[in-house]
Amino acid sequence: MKHHTLRKLVAAFCWPLLFTACSSNKTTTPMESPYIADPHSYARPEQSRVDALHLQLTVDFERQQLRGAAVWTLAPEHGDSLVLDTYDLNIDSVLVDGAPVAFSLGEKDAILGQPLRLPLRPTSQEVRIVYSTQPGARALQWLDPAQTAGKKQPFLFTQSQAILARTWLPCQDSPGLRYRYTADIQVPVGMMALMSATNPTERSADGRYSFEMEIPVPAYLMALAVGDIDFKAVGPRTGVYAEPSMLEKSVYEFEEMEAMLEAAEALYGPYAWGKYDVLVLPPSFPFGGMENPRLTFATPTIITGDRSLVSLIAHELAHSWSGNLVTNATWDDFWLNEGFTVYFENRIMEAVYGPDFAEMLAGIGYADMVEEIADLTAKGELAKTSLKANMAGTDPDDGVGPIAYDKGYHFLRLIDETVGRAKFDAFLRTYFTENAFSSMHTERFVQILTDSLGAEALAGIDLQDWIYGTGLPADCPKPASPRFTQVDSWRSKFIAGESLPQQQYAAWSTQEWVYFIRGFAAADAKLIPALDEQFNFSSSRNAEILSVWFAYVMKHQPKYAQLNGIFGKSLESFLVEVGRRKFLMPTYRAMKEGGSIALARQIYTKARPNYHAVARQSVDALLQ
Ligand code: BES
Ligand code: ZN
Repeated sequence: MKHHTLRKLVAAFCWPLLFTACSSNKTTTPMESPYIADPHSYARPEQSRVDALHLQLTVDFERQQLRGAAVWTLAPEHGDSLVLDTYDLNIDSVLVDGAPVAFSLGEKDAILGQPLRLPLRPTSQEVRIVYSTQPGARALQWLDPAQTAGKKQPFLFTQSQAILARTWLPCQDSPGLRYRYTADIQVPVGMMALMSATNPTERSADGRYSFEMEIPVPAYLMALAVGDIDFKAVGPRTGVYAEPSMLEKSVYEFEEMEAMLEAAEALYGPYAWGKYDVLVLPPSFPFGGMENPRLTFATPTIITGDRSLVSLIAHELAHSWSGNLVTNATWDDFWLNEGFTVYFENRIMEAVYGPDFAEMLAGIGYADMVEEIADLTAKGELAKTSLKANMAGTDPDDGVGPIAYDKGYHFLRLIDETVGRAKFDAFLRTYFTENAFSSMHTERFVQILTDSLGAEALAGIDLQDWIYGTGLPADCPKPASPRFTQVDSWRSKFIAGESLPQQQYAAWSTQEWVYFIRGFAAADAKLIPALDEQFNFSSSRNAEILSVWFAYVMKHQPKYAQLNGIFGKSLESFLVEVGRRKFLMPTYRAMKEGGSIALARQIYTKARPNYHAVARQSVDALLQ
């Protein structure tokens, strides 16, 4: 027992040290919860599990292929076979301790891919899989030079979450399983390679790069990017990687990164990963951000010049605790990753930018949540509105949305408001420390929560209803942003025909503009030309503003796309250039619902080659 507590403590504060100390020992991770069966992985960890990976890959841009070997060290005391997840990989050979073995690839499931089964002996230690990827590997996006900022060199990046790591390496692809890794990556001379690991800050002379991630991570946090990339430090532990023409702008935009990191540590304990850098990707990146350890991947659409979208960095940074330290055990527990992270993100933003700003962010999340619940209810899909998801048999990428994020956030906010912030903060700090480097499922979280805070303190909250119930619980907190109240009153005046004096909105942030536009009703659509005339939304360079503007116009006044040349051009070039799913979906959906499906399909035909597989899948389903 004593040893157990000590180990927890050491694990939280000096994991790398612990690891070195234990590397000859049989201990792997301080996994305290039993493995929860994961419906999205073929891995059979109760039989055999892996401990460490050495990845050797050559990045071939001409053939759009990764080629090489994944060398897995087995955890001791394994069974007589190992099952790995794969999806469309070419498996050339499998060697166990240097000797070829007969392996088998099971039948392919459209979502899960194929299990790779191989025999083990009791003494087996190492499994080498010689393999290559196929051009359609869904995690990988291969960009032509024309799709980059510099236009001179190609670019490659991966997106492994949720279950796409298996499309670029054979692995036990479950968030409940962790391993450490090293990698040797060969890229064309002159290009930079980066991973979710210790990273170079300069290009190598021969295109060879070595990486190490000595802290165990789940497969969905495996990441690789290759391109014409430079580095610049922002603070002692923080820095930015970007294409050369994007680097200065990005460094300016993220200047407060170090302050965010300090604010995060002050809230919930020491940052466990060493460095925190951000890689700014080309615009086809399908997400806003991805919390790859030590190296967040980010969309360039947050580089607005006014630092108004840096909450995305706060979000990905927060995942260094919620998600990367304490990891959802299965994708049904995804809200544990994202709801906690939205809450933590908001706390970082409050600490660095003040409560008024943070409350605007909460207000936008509230609106997203209410809209999503209304949509799902209207579609008869109320079951999808509960925090604990039920994703078996479906693609976990389809579960990414305001329920896990914003309903999750509001649930934690309710607990914060009910038990008091000091108590809740102390709880969270201990929760992250004690459960560091392990996986968490919803039921266990509820147990820990009630054990720590006491059933009495939580008596006013119907935990079961919040987690398993559907719709919006009656006691859901409602953010109240004074800045948004101002925006509401100016919008009303505008609708009533009053003009809006420039000095009133000169200092509005992206959030105020987004809120302003979203507040116009269908009946106000006649004001669209006047709005554009005064505020020039159609020529905005800000993707958040453009996407709500496009959605509003295309839903309620689709003819405007033909009438106003600037709008029409801007809509098309936005959809062709930007591949962030969060912007694409509402825009295409509004076009579909507003009667412009033909135009949507026409633009999509042109845009689709620029999109990542994840974005294609969602838009394909929408537009058939
Ligand atoms: N981890 C997510 C992105 C993700 C989730 C990718 C599930 C694949 C499957 C990331 O942290 C995230 O939440 N990104 C948001 C950022 C936003 C909430 C600030 C995004 O991409 O929009
Ligand atoms: Zn997130």
